[in-house]
Amino acid sequence: MSSTANQPVPQHCPSPRELDDLELLLSGALAPISAYDEPGSPVTLTLPDALAGEATVELVDPEGLPLATVTREDGRWVPTALGTPAYGPFRRLHLSPGQAREAYAGRTWVPVHDALTPGEITELAAIAGAKVLVAFTGHGFAPELSPVGLVRASLAAAEEIGDTAVVAVPLASHGSSAADEDLALQVLATYAAGDPQLPLRVTTSPTSTGHKPHFGGKVAEIVDFDRPPLDRRGLVLFFTGLSGSGKSTLARALLDKLLEQGERTVTSLDGDVVRRNLSAGLTFSKADRETNIRRIGWVAAEIARHGGVAVVSPIAPFDSTRQDVRRYVEEAGGTFFLVHVATPLEECERRDRKGLYAKARQGLIPEFTGISSPYEVPEDADVRVDTTGRTVEDALADVEKALAAAGLLEV
Ligand code: ADX
Repeated sequence: MSSTANQPVPQHCPSPRELDDLELLLSGALAPISAYDEPGSPVTLTLPDALAGEATVELVDPEGLPLATVTREDGRWVPTALGTPAYGPFRRLHLSPGQAREAYAGRTWVPVHDALTPGEITELAAIAGAKVLVAFTGHGFAPELSPVGLVRASLAAAEEIGDTAVVAVPLASHGSSAADEDLALQVLATYAAGDPQLPLRVTTSPTSTGHKPHFGGKVAEIVDFDRPPLDRRGLVLFFTGLSGSGKSTLARALLDKLLEQGERTVTSLDGDVVRRNLSAGLTFSKADRETNIRRIGWVAAEIARHGGVAVVSPIAPFDSTRQDVRRYVEEAGGTFFLVHVATPLEECERRDRKGLYAKARQGLIPEFTGISSPYEVPEDADVRVDTTGRTVEDALADVEKALAAAGLLEV
């Protein structure tokens, strides 16, 4: 996100959803929608306040590559392509409706938003003639699988069905599943243009009954790699609480147990330790604390992406920043587990192991959490532990029980 004075057109990096929308707006896949912010359309663009008065803005990808300009016309933002990103997994399968029709006209078009079950594969194989699986890979559309996982699973299914091609269409989720479905079918109709089309689900899959569908063969292998079962999935154990609440002690004890067990890769990101390296130089102002937590969250999400366990223990006093971290982790395919170490302020102050509360009371440390800076109590904690008068083992047992009950970890 940047806007530079010596640049004639200000630049902006849109959200992942908006970037997916851009690709489809430019390829004609969203027709009749051709611009952001058309009346009644869910395809919108939110610009930062600093750019609110601009007539033209250049949209860039997260690496800064210019993708399009958008020009304001009657409240709509009309895009004009500048460049097409030539990278990204399965980019070659990102065909515009025009390209797809040139390659595949006359086939049966099958919308796909999850891996196909053996039943669905058999059903498709029984349909005469060539087919195209249209995999909806946009941001949040197919939450059961990553975009790459969905394409890989679709390619494996296509091979089993026979005479079947795969096209990746990055249609993102726009909030409601009914609206998403309508948009998906509209996009599919644009690709199929008169050819036979199947509904979004080929069969009533077991997902509608709340059970995870059973996949077979290569598809099952791909799904398992992409979304391992909960107890093998990346996990961020986020301990939040006041200074002196015991969160570092609990986090450390849990970390040691996990290391002794030797079944998972584990990384510790303790508040005080992070402030000596990753966040060295940051203060305790609200803005710097937010930066500190977002950095921790960014690293923790990368650890989760690789299937590891991150045990993090900063104060993290602000709810919105904790929510940001939850989002980063979940978008990386990991599980975010929030432990509120709810030892009351009086007890933390009584312990005052580092002598910081005394100094804060004397006004020697400004913006001290609990004294002169707020702590927003989490309402979304998975478990709450007050360590007052309890041994480490005893308090940790509460956390372990909650982890086991959630099917995440047995220690
Ligand atoms: S956070 O608010 O940004 O999450 P973080 O966990 O990194 O805080 O750092 C907290 C640690 O820094 C405390 O355990 C304490 O040792 C030390 N510290 C120094 N100044 C302050 C302050 N003003 N408020 C809270 N903790 C402080």
